[in-house]
Amino acid sequence: MKLPESYHNKTTYFGVFLALISLTIFFLLLILSLLTNFGGAYSGLFTYMISPLFIILGLALIPIGMHFKRKRKIQSGETDEIWPVWNLNKPQHRNAFLIFSIGSIVFLTLSIIGSFQAYHYSESNEFCGLMCHQVMAPEYISYSNSAHARVACVECHVGEGADWFVKAKISGLYQVYAYTLNIYPRPIQTPIENLRPAQETCARCHWPEKFYSDALKKFKHYLADENNTEWSIDMNLKVGSDHSAKGLENGIHWHINPNIAIDYVHTDRIRESIPWVRKINKETGDTTIFEFADEMPDAAEFSKLKSRRMDCMDCHNRPSHQYNLPQNFVDNAIISGKIASDLPQFKATAMALLNAKFETTIQAMDSIKSGITSFYETNYTDLYSTRKADIDNAILAVQNGYKINIFPEMKASWDAYVNHLGHKSYKGCFRCHDGQHTSKEGKTISNDCTLCHVILAQGSKDNKAFAQFGQGLEFQHPVDIDGMEKEGRCYDCHRNLYQ
Ligand code: HEC
Ligand code: HEC
Ligand code: HEC
Ligand code: HEC
Ligand code: HEC
Ligand code: HEC
Repeated sequence: MKLPESYHNKTTYFGVFLALISLTIFFLLLILSLLTNFGGAYSGLFTYMISPLFIILGLALIPIGMHFKRKRKIQSGETDEIWPVWNLNKPQHRNAFLIFSIGSIVFLTLSIIGSFQAYHYSESNEFCGLMCHQVMAPEYISYSNSAHARVACVECHVGEGADWFVKAKISGLYQVYAYTLNIYPRPIQTPIENLRPAQETCARCHWPEKFYSDALKKFKHYLADENNTEWSIDMNLKVGSDHSAKGLENGIHWHINPNIAIDYVHTDRIRESIPWVRKINKETGDTTIFEFADEMPDAAEFSKLKSRRMDCMDCHNRPSHQYNLPQNFVDNAIISGKIASDLPQFKATAMALLNAKFETTIQAMDSIKSGITSFYETNYTDLYSTRKADIDNAILAVQNGYKINIFPEMKASWDAYVNHLGHKSYKGCFRCHDGQHTSKEGKTISNDCTLCHVILAQGSKDNKAFAQFGQGLEFQHPVDIDGMEKEGRCYDCHRNLYQ
């Protein structure tokens, strides 16, 4: 086929070659991915992002090569026509025109399909969670083990609407850059600045006014003593009101009552230090300001701080990325039977080992295995040989717990990511409910132990106390700590209990 003279140059040849090869690869990958689930997380990246990039590059090289060929001709005096002349009577020009028109139509159609696929792919969990393996491993793994494992990342992190889509893609570009240059923070920072408000993400699935009744919660723990003593606490958690007809009148979800607004000011990044809280009753217009005098910054500094309106995320800040403390995941493994509860001193041994800071997961795996093995070999030699299988299973369970909750390479763990729900291992509710946030009128945000829950039963297996009908029990701390539990600051000890 005859083509214009300017077509014949190395750059244009290379462009054609590149475009054709990439196009072939694109089709091959497309067919493969439609017929099989070939390639896993990366196939989408190659099919919809990398190969189209090379097709476009190849296509762009064609006119570039032709342009320089003409320029050379003008410089050498072969022609003095600055602009290319189209003459459809010449077969070369007709052919070029035909190829260009048909090519453009095919390319445009493919681009529409391609960008649609690329868009879908960039919104998929595999792209968000698996692309930069190590970086997103903590978030992806914790997400996969959460109540929201079937909710796409983008439903919470992007939501609906073009403006947030564009914002997400722009910040995504920065993330790719940070990843490539290896300048991203470890751990990834939390909370996310400018996270989309809960009303536009969570509230699409969870109707905020929906009534949730009180919940019966059963907590079970194993003490770090000789027999791993089982200690359980059953409580009625007052999530909603005592009667559904009262709606959000009171109870824990009272904070999201649409007639109420709670604003607060925090002096640290992770929103744990809250010296100032304002309650607004939207119906009556009454406002009450509660201040924690000891932590109030001076007026000049205070005026610089922005206030935040409380929403779901101020309690449920870990709905899908929860990093459990070692004591919690080991307790869970005992409850589920993966660890035999009658291995003497098991909890204590595991806690002592998990307390160390490891540089890599492999190091942690080795240390857990050798630590537990040598403990039983040395201290319980007979038991070590008779119950080898139980000990091996227990080692596996601790290792698995570690792998899904602690990520030393990314420095992601319970220590880096606070959980605001509760008050035992983190400040949580006690950020405001510490009995020290007082208003001018002398009102205090309550820290009464029965404000949020009523204990129905507590104690060890053989020595359990039950509340009488309609009443609650006073909390009994499992080990004697001189009544310090009454002051409420559980997190002071429990955040680093075994250190
Ligand atoms: C149910 C909603 C939800 C889903 C689904 C979800 N996330 Fe999150 N994610 C959150 C919330 C809430 C935060 C904490 C935000 C804050 O405190 O500012 C968060 C935080 C993060 C962070 C910042 C680090 C941190 O832990 O605070 C990253 C990174 C992240 N998510 C990635 C992902 C990825 C990747 C997926 C999908 C595999 C995903 N998320 C799915 C709600 C969600
Ligand atoms: C796409 C829908 C969807 C979105 C968006 C969503 N959730 Fe959920 N959420 C669910 C479903 C479905 C369940 C029930 C899962 C189950 O019971 O296994 C659930 C369960 C929960 C639970 C109970 C958790 C548990 O462990 O039982 C909480 C708390 C929660 N969501 C909070 C949130 C918060 C906070 C957000 C916003 C960051 C959010 N959800 C966004 C669908 C969603
Ligand atoms: C940002 C501050 C803040 C945080 C954090 C907070 N609260 Fe509150 N809470 C308040 C304020 C303010 C009131 C109203 C106090 C008053 O009017 O006396 C309140 C009232 C309550 C009430 C009583 C509601 C009623 O009238 O029946 C309950 C129950 C409650 N909170 C539970 C919790 C729980 C559980 C958590 C943690 C998961 C929590 N709160 C976290 C500020 C907070
Ligand atoms: C003041 C803190 C607080 C706020 C604000 C809050 N929650 Fe909750 N929520 C709780 C607590 C505490 C529980 C009980 C947790 C448990 O069972 O361990 C709970 C339970 C839930 C559950 C599970 C209910 C069940 O019966 O299983 C869902 C779903 C939920 N919340 C959604 C939301 C949504 C959506 C928002 C925002 C519109 C929200 N919450 C705001 C503290 C809060
Ligand atoms: C502002 C509300 C609030 C107040 C006040 C409060 N708690 Fe709690 N408490 C909670 C919530 C919410 C949880 C459940 C956390 C969860 O679901 O993991 C909880 C859980 C507990 C648990 C079970 C923890 C576990 O892991 O076994 C105990 C025990 C407890 N509280 C004792 C107390 C005592 C003692 C006081 C008084 C000093 C108190 N609480 C005051 C909200 C409160
Ligand atoms: C002075 C430090 C201290 C304070 C304050 C404290 N605890 Fe403890 N707590 C301990 C110790 C030590 C143990 C024993 C741990 C073991 O043997 O494994 C323990 C064990 C527990 C256990 C059973 C084991 C476990 O891992 O959960 C519960 C439940 C508990 N504490 C709840 C609370 C609550 C709720 C508060 C606050 C009202 C509180 N503690 C305040 C030190 C403290």
